[in-house]
Amino acid sequence: MTRDSLSETAQRVLRLNDTGKFTKPSPRQYPHQWNWDSAFIALGLAHFDLPRACVEVQSLLSAQWRDGMVPHIIYPTAASDYFPPPEFWQTQNLPYAGNVQSSGLTQPPILATIVRMMHDRVPSLGFTREVYPRLLAWHRWLHTARDADGTGLPCLIHPWESGMDNSPLWADALDRVTPTNLPAFKRRDMIHVAADERPLGPDYERFVHLIDLGRRLHWEPRALLGQMPFLVQDVLFCSILHRADEDLRALAIELGEETHEMDAWLAHTRAVFDARFWDDTQGLYRDYDVRVSEPIRVNANAVFAPLFAGLASPAQAARLVADHFDNPSEYAPDGDSSFRLPSVAKNERGYSARRYWCGPIWIQMNWIIAEGLRRYGFTAQANAVVRDSLALIEQSGFREYYDPRDGSGCGATDFCWSAALALEMLAQQDISTPMR
Ligand code: GLC
Repeated sequence: MTRDSLSETAQRVLRLNDTGKFTKPSPRQYPHQWNWDSAFIALGLAHFDLPRACVEVQSLLSAQWRDGMVPHIIYPTAASDYFPPPEFWQTQNLPYAGNVQSSGLTQPPILATIVRMMHDRVPSLGFTREVYPRLLAWHRWLHTARDADGTGLPCLIHPWESGMDNSPLWADALDRVTPTNLPAFKRRDMIHVAADERPLGPDYERFVHLIDLGRRLHWEPRALLGQMPFLVQDVLFCSILHRADEDLRALAIELGEETHEMDAWLAHTRAVFDARFWDDTQGLYRDYDVRVSEPIRVNANAVFAPLFAGLASPAQAARLVADHFDNPSEYAPDGDSSFRLPSVAKNERGYSARRYWCGPIWIQMNWIIAEGLRRYGFTAQANAVVRDSLALIEQSGFREYYDPRDGSGCGATDFCWSAALALEMLAQQDISTPMR
């Protein structure tokens, strides 16, 4: 595929999944609207249809709950073969929920970063002014309603909130969850995707059990913090939020709004981040299991996310790159893998090259990591990640994830954030860099 045809096909994938108001992540596997998918999709759309990109953001925010949460799945359209269906969440008629049917969970808050990128490229004060208060309310909700320990670091109550739904990061915390009185349900995620690329049965039961607990607590934030057995502070989520706080602050300045709320969040996160997440022995960041007050000792590629947020010192960044990014036993290519960046270090116990979030490469993680590497001056490494991402897409099309060994595609097809971020990477890439 040439660059031109790659860009044309990417646009075609976004159009194929376009319902007019929101874009499905993929035609069959994900037929509704997903939170961070829509943000990445808006960034892609902005390259060729800015008004439509704005509609994508508006439709996502129109599902915002009254308390500020922006939900992870939004069901603007009716029936589909997706499980869980809208009514399964039991979010209707809650006084703090929104007017559009949705899940009771949230997802990584990358939206303010995307809105800032859109605004910096094509200033649109009207649109930015319209969405700014909603973004602010979401960030406020994350720093307060999900703050369990006064650090302001939001807690996740379900693995699906991390966006890395089936990562080995969650294995120990899920082991402590015993599904009891499981509601009747039928998995639908293996209709369109092979079973060995999807979560194992016992894990899926725990995902459903946690939804059941959440709905019994009516998704009420204090009750969730107090009672959900899964309660985690996640490096990727907190890094994305910190970067988005920075970007929200920049938007506030553009709009002539006050910034002290964001200043406080930024200072607070900076003050607690290392003590909570940095493991100086291994030279990487570790998620934190709030329920047992212990770090989660699993090396997933989210360890690089603090670079995206500017939260690492130059010395920490150098260790991340030398000891982990460039390490062939973990993330660098070797005899067992040809492409960057496996979602889990190859020498981790839970690593599995094709299973959902247990090893395959995800394009949105690659984009976040490349942006972070660039921010710290690791230009060659950033370019290598972008080059590999485009090579995977050229070879295997716009798939949901890719096998790091041979680059073959896994999961859903015609997958939108792979298309949207290909457009972004193509636009950013040095024109002189040859495609391989
Ligand atoms: C999967 C991913 C999640 C994504 C969703 C829709 O659940 O783990 O991050 O938002 O699919 O693409």
